[in-house]
Amino acid sequence: MATVLAIETSCDETAVAIVNNRQILSNIVSSQIATHRPYGGVVPEMASRQHVETLNSAIAQALQDPNINWSAIDGIAVTCAPGLVGALLVGLTAAKTLAIVHQKPFLGVHHLEGHIYASYLSDPELRTPFLCLLVSGGHTSLIYVKGCGDYTTLGQTRDDAAGEAFDKVARLLNLGYPGGPAIDKLSHHGNPRAFALPEGQVSLPEGGFHRYDSSFSGLKTAVLRLTQKLQQTNQPLPVDDLAASFQETVAKALTKRAIACALDYGLSTIAVGGGVAANSGLRHHLQAAATEHNLRVLFPPLKFCTDNAAMIACAAADHLNRGHISPLTLGAQSRMAISDVMQLYVPAQ
Ligand code: KG4
Ligand code: ZN
Repeated sequence: MATVLAIETSCDETAVAIVNNRQILSNIVSSQIATHRPYGGVVPEMASRQHVETLNSAIAQALQDPNINWSAIDGIAVTCAPGLVGALLVGLTAAKTLAIVHQKPFLGVHHLEGHIYASYLSDPELRTPFLCLLVSGGHTSLIYVKGCGDYTTLGQTRDDAAGEAFDKVARLLNLGYPGGPAIDKLSHHGNPRAFALPEGQVSLPEGGFHRYDSSFSGLKTAVLRLTQKLQQTNQPLPVDDLAASFQETVAKALTKRAIACALDYGLSTIAVGGGVAANSGLRHHLQAAATEHNLRVLFPPLKFCTDNAAMIACAAADHLNRGHISPLTLGAQSRMAISDVMQLYVPAQ
């Protein structure tokens, strides 16, 4: 029953949390969205600098909230891959320092494994195997979760991630950054059937289409072309209808793939993670389809879907309970397949 303090600095959230197995003792998230908004996306160098400025006070606050002292902490964890290398290094350096100073086991955690563990935070009774639909700014994956550290990617995007598509289309429609929440909000006022947009399918060499892989760059280009065409009419741009039609297309594409994958592999639960799990269109379509096929779909609360350190601590606690620890020589990696997570650990002494 490990208690872990974890740090997450892989992108634009400086986060620290303390978790006992699947129970959150403290959860501090300091978002950098306001810093990056004027640039329309995350500026890596600015992200690293802000992590440096914010991290120490976030650690102090995480310890203060449950009034915990170091003796109650069994391990120090940190996101080490994938992510922005400079940003990851800030968290890694802090976590290694804490592990050395307080003589605690050190654990590197794969960011996507953290997103998978967000589901355990909202349902501690969740049992493997299950299918995880991971939809964030950097990833769109369907992952077969067999157990702690045992993952197989069954489907992914061939180009833009789902969140990236939301962000790019929002930029195109001048809706600001991040684009997902802005499009989601506007969609409530628009007609999702106003424009027929292409779903974007991945062809197979032998003919037909890949059942689980997705592609969103064609959809983004279709929205661009449609917007240019509409602008020529000199009418105000029907932004609500465009947002609603785009969201509907993405939600249906993700739903179709997740349901097909769960049914093909005989998995009765789909756990959704990543920032796009917050999307109301996806929630609506996936829930309806899951009910129709007698599947369970789990949407963790929003605060667990977007980047946070509680999910990292939860994953690390499970590894620590199994005696997995990382060497202090562990480095940051911008890319790493989720199937390789066990490379981060050595058996405990
Ligand atoms: O998981 P996350 O916080 O960070 C990454 O690891 O990428 O996801 C951020 C992404 C952004 O692309 C953002 O636009 C998207 O999640 N997002 C949404 C919504 N809220 C956040 N996309 C669609 N609808 C939303 N309501
Ligand atoms: Zn993330």
